[in-house]
Amino acid sequence: MRFEIKDRDAAGRICRFYTLHGTVTTPTLMPVVNPNKILITPQEMKKLFGVEIVITNSYIIKKDEKLKKKALDEGVHKVIDFDGPVMTDSGTFQSYVYGKIKLDPLEIVEFQRDIGSDIGTILDVFGLPDEPKTIATQGVKETLKRAKEAVKVKEDMLIACTVQGSTYQDLREKCAKEMSEIDCDFFPIGGVVPLMENQRYSDLVKVILSCKKNLNPSKPVHLFGAGHPLVFPLSVALGCDFFDSSAYAKYAYDNRLIFPWGTEKLDDISDLPCSCPVCSRLSADELRKLDEKERVVEIAKHNLYVSFGEIKKIRNAISNGSLWELVERRATSNPYLFEALDELKKTRNKAWLEHSEPVSKNKALFYTGRHTINRPIVYRLHNRLLNWYKPFFKDILVFPEAEGKPYSIYYFDEIRKLDDIQVNLVVDSWLGPVPLELDEMYPFAQSVFPSMVDEETKKEVSKVFKKFVKGKNIFYWRGDDTLKELQRKNGLKTKKVLDRDFMRISAVSIMQFGKDASKALFNGEIKIVKSKKTGKIRNVYCNGKHILSMRANDGLFTLKIEGGKLLHKFFKYPKLRVVVDDEAVSFVKDGKSVFAKFVKDCDPRLRPLDECLIVDKNDSLLAVGRCLLNRDEMLSFDFGVAVKTREKNEF
Ligand code: GUN
Ligand code: ZN
Repeated sequence: MRFEIKDRDAAGRICRFYTLHGTVTTPTLMPVVNPNKILITPQEMKKLFGVEIVITNSYIIKKDEKLKKKALDEGVHKVIDFDGPVMTDSGTFQSYVYGKIKLDPLEIVEFQRDIGSDIGTILDVFGLPDEPKTIATQGVKETLKRAKEAVKVKEDMLIACTVQGSTYQDLREKCAKEMSEIDCDFFPIGGVVPLMENQRYSDLVKVILSCKKNLNPSKPVHLFGAGHPLVFPLSVALGCDFFDSSAYAKYAYDNRLIFPWGTEKLDDISDLPCSCPVCSRLSADELRKLDEKERVVEIAKHNLYVSFGEIKKIRNAISNGSLWELVERRATSNPYLFEALDELKKTRNKAWLEHSEPVSKNKALFYTGRHTINRPIVYRLHNRLLNWYKPFFKDILVFPEAEGKPYSIYYFDEIRKLDDIQVNLVVDSWLGPVPLELDEMYPFAQSVFPSMVDEETKKEVSKVFKKFVKGKNIFYWRGDDTLKELQRKNGLKTKKVLDRDFMRISAVSIMQFGKDASKALFNGEIKIVKSKKTGKIRNVYCNGKHILSMRANDGLFTLKIEGGKLLHKFFKYPKLRVVVDDEAVSFVKDGKSVFAKFVKDCDPRLRPLDECLIVDKNDSLLAVGRCLLNRDEMLSFDFGVAVKTREKNEF
């Protein structure tokens, strides 16, 4: 099985998934193809919506003598006339919908293998929400047993082993953990259809998190039976890679149209609120007047256009770093979904999500409402501010949130007056306290808030602010009065102009590399070079050696090899390290990137897009680079780049 991460945001990812019938880009949707009633052929789906993989049902094929014979003789791809990757389901869902069906768990897996399915599914035991725990426990036990049997007979077929466990999070966790120990290739999260049908999105979030936290991160995760785009953004943000949709057809038969914000009955629509080719060509009235067969096909097409449109939006949001924004915006269209986001407020969930959160993004952080303050990037920022960052002086001068950024430009005149006063300058912002030295760092400068925010944000920010200033003397800026007060207080001290540039590189290095990073990096004669055009810090030299560059877009440092040497000498193993296998050493020494396959170990504190030290097993520094994966991922993935090498050590 080959699966690799290409890009990422939140706990979501854009991946390539390789099958014998072609490569698939995820996140994606697999339209369900019913071999008995094909509404739109898979070929046409590929042409119209860019469908790369479809899913069909092996139980339906096996039950029908004609289909079964054709499948065994010519393969499942011929049965549905599609030459791309085909996943098959096992009949679990039919037994959930229609009650007991006669099926041998191993036989149905062998059948899927024999008809040439690219991904076959075990006959998992569908766990109903809130069923008695004894039943759910038994179902998980049986599902695990069947998974263990199935992997033995899969041969070339990839095997999907469904995680069950009803709404019991401990059972979900156990099932996910044990599935990860088995040689399976693909993890559907099963038993969630009733949760979605009843709009129990908080429970859905709980289930996804319990599974994802315990699944091997290097394998694709499929939210089984999720076909409504309403749940796509959040599910992707939590780490789901695949969805499957029979909804597009089911709803079409029922004259219902899918939209990113929900579903609407054709009868209730005056103007089609959509610009897909179907809705561009036809008015609501014209659509209503079509004969039934034609109408169902047109609605099904609209439903798929909308569903794949949403997939594209999600991928685009991942690549520009705005997935949380999309999640929050979509959640406002459904109160239950909106409420489900409250699950992500829990510290344990924030902490888990923070592991996957990139340290920087291409796009500014936009406030969308009360959920924004709970994003993992904010959680990280506050943790580092409270635990790593140390104010320089005992006194703190607080400025109110400003209308312009960066704050040091907005408050330029005030700061100049305070040039020789030993006081920390802090802006009381909607993102929490912002020390002036950090005002260019992502996301402080790269964030947009309205002038007024919700109560929850105010409460959270004020909590952090109180912790931040604890034990310090606080002054609030009221103009010259405050200045005089501070001058009187500072009167006895030597009038030395503060080196705010040095304070900036020092503070940013600590926020980025951890406590004491400034001691490691700036122990010597420091020269700071600024951009002539913008006046911003560009390069930092220590004892004549170029150790860091400050990026203009996010105000964070790019680590040069000379800076890497200083961090390596100062910080003990494993801090900031990625350890590579002997096999990869010569490649890294050549400046080539590190593939996940060759990572032996990694500092658990490294996050995606963190600068890191690439070392061999004796901790000798080979190069500096930028992580694309976190530790769990580096150690699990067999494919793809783990660290982009920036600059090699010259030996
Ligand atoms: N389709 C929708 N939900 C499920 C599930 O839990 N298991 C299987 N095998 N198929 C499904
Ligand atoms: Zn449309």
